[in-house]
Amino acid sequence: MGKYTGKVIAITGAANGIGRELAIQYAKKGAKLSLSDIDAKNLESLVAELKGTEIVTAVFDVGNYEDMEAYAKKTYDTFGTVDIFYNNAGVAVVGNIWEQSLKDWKWAFDTNVMGVVHGIKSFVPRMIEQDKECRIINTASVAGLLVSPNSPVYVSSKHAAVTLTEVLNLQLQLAGAKVRASALCPGFVVSDLHNSDRHRPQELQNDPNKDPYYQSEDYKTKAQIMEQSVTGGMATDKAVEIIIKAVEDDEFFIMTHPEYKPIIEMRMKNILEQNRPSAI
Ligand SMILES: NC(=O)c1ccc[n+]([C@@H]2O[C@H](COP(=O)([O-])OP(=O)(O)OC[C@H]3O[C@@H](n4cnc5c(N)ncnc54)[C@H](O)[C@@H]3O)[C@@H](O)[C@H]2O)c1
Repeated sequence: MGKYTGKVIAITGAANGIGRELAIQYAKKGAKLSLSDIDAKNLESLVAELKGTEIVTAVFDVGNYEDMEAYAKKTYDTFGTVDIFYNNAGVAVVGNIWEQSLKDWKWAFDTNVMGVVHGIKSFVPRMIEQDKECRIINTASVAGLLVSPNSPVYVSSKHAAVTLTEVLNLQLQLAGAKVRASALCPGFVVSDLHNSDRHRPQELQNDPNKDPYYQSEDYKTKAQIMEQSVTGGMATDKAVEIIIKAVEDDEFFIMTHPEYKPIIEMRMKNILEQNRPSAI
């Protein structure tokens, strides 16, 4: 009997990166899994890898509320309960704020913000209803606690994810619910986040012929910085070990990289002292 035997873990964005590693580590600990992703092929290969684990799957875009609702219903119809829900799916985009397309904003906010909102709307009422201690972990990023100049759309979406999770936490407490919310704020972790465009819907893809910014040196440099940061990040298994332990310890702001704390502190200080933040 593992620590998680009989427990149910639901994960969006489970087919790759952090979500995939969460699935692997919880499976090893004996949990049952409800795994979803937009990427059917990678999800299928994960299920094959986790042979022997009780798993239910769903393939959909978290930006679609009806599909999230169907996923929550399928999870509860199968297992009757959820112990931890990782609202994890997300995408990254880079660029200069006055040159990026509105398609970048729509796609990243549909996924990183509305995807999290859809997860809350579909899972939290069911989690409150089951009336037992359980957890919702909304994946933001350390980018949601500080400000960096490389990826304004991503940073803004992750600030939204942190803030809505802070309010969710307060409202769950005021409601006397047994659901505990946390904001997962990792630093750079090895994954395919820098290749997020692989799942961008056709209608939201940038056209470099119509929008030359996406051929510019500025854009290419920013994309390269993102790639180097993600591929040079913390090993995925190590990051997920930290995350699972932090969830067990009931941390609210879950961080994998304490070295970012002085930068977060500097932002807080700038706010309180009404200083203009410096890019240099
Ligand atoms: N890797 C990092 O350095 C890092 C740092 C901070 C936060 N995060 C966050 O962690 C989460 C997981 O990202 P990752 O780093 O594992 O990246 P990843 O690209 O390796 O994995 C993301 C998964 O989400 C899925 N996905 C993407 N858009 C989707 C959608 N619209 N609907 C359903 N599934 C979708 C992808 O198919 C993929 O399987 C994201 O929210 C990301 O912003 C990552």
